[in-house]
Amino acid sequence: MKLFIDTANVEEIREAYALGVICGVTTNPSLIAREGRNFAQVVREIVSIVDGPISAEAVSTDAPGMVSEAVELSAIHPNIVIKIPMTAEGLKATKILAGKKIRTNVTLIFSANQALLAARAGAAYVSPFVGRLDDISQDGMDLVYDIMEIFDRHQLPTQVIAASIRHPVHVTAAARAGAHIATVPYKVIMQMIKHPLTDAGVKKFLEDWETVKNK
Ligand code: E4P
Repeated sequence: MKLFIDTANVEEIREAYALGVICGVTTNPSLIAREGRNFAQVVREIVSIVDGPISAEAVSTDAPGMVSEAVELSAIHPNIVIKIPMTAEGLKATKILAGKKIRTNVTLIFSANQALLAARAGAAYVSPFVGRLDDISQDGMDLVYDIMEIFDRHQLPTQVIAASIRHPVHVTAAARAGAHIATVPYKVIMQMIKHPLTDAGVKKFLEDWETVKNK
């Protein structure tokens, strides 16, 4: 399973990319709003840091609007992937954009049927939102298993991005479910690094080394 970072914060992206563990970025309008900066400028900075798929979301609600936003955003860099909401208009836009060879990431996926429709419309990626399903007492990871089974069985080329990841256990579970990618917030990447036994082990090795280093 590949790892993307789910943020529009350029410093977080720079730090996570330096770790060598992420190969793509996902943003959404809420993450962009959190930064309070110009959208196109943020996207330009992200593509200059990470050489991999960068999802930028269209905010129009009609297909022609989504398509024209997609054409404009994808002109910034070939790595740009257009996030399209899972609506009827979004499906129409996905089909048109596939015809133009513009890759889409159909977002806000909450059912296996939505994922199947997006794949059939030509989405390069679908993003099931695991955490938001957990929030309403539905096991979000079950959806990832269902989508993987359907895509495998019917040999659909669309890649599955486990999204709305809230903690390290989600990442392990997404990998076990066979998701192609998990898009992970910076905080969770940092949590994944840490283990108290690693910290204690490093501390003890350094203490022991101090006793012999000058001998
Ligand atoms: C995915 O691409 C979304 O940006 C993101 O994972 C949503 O996560 P949230 O439910 O924590 O807002």
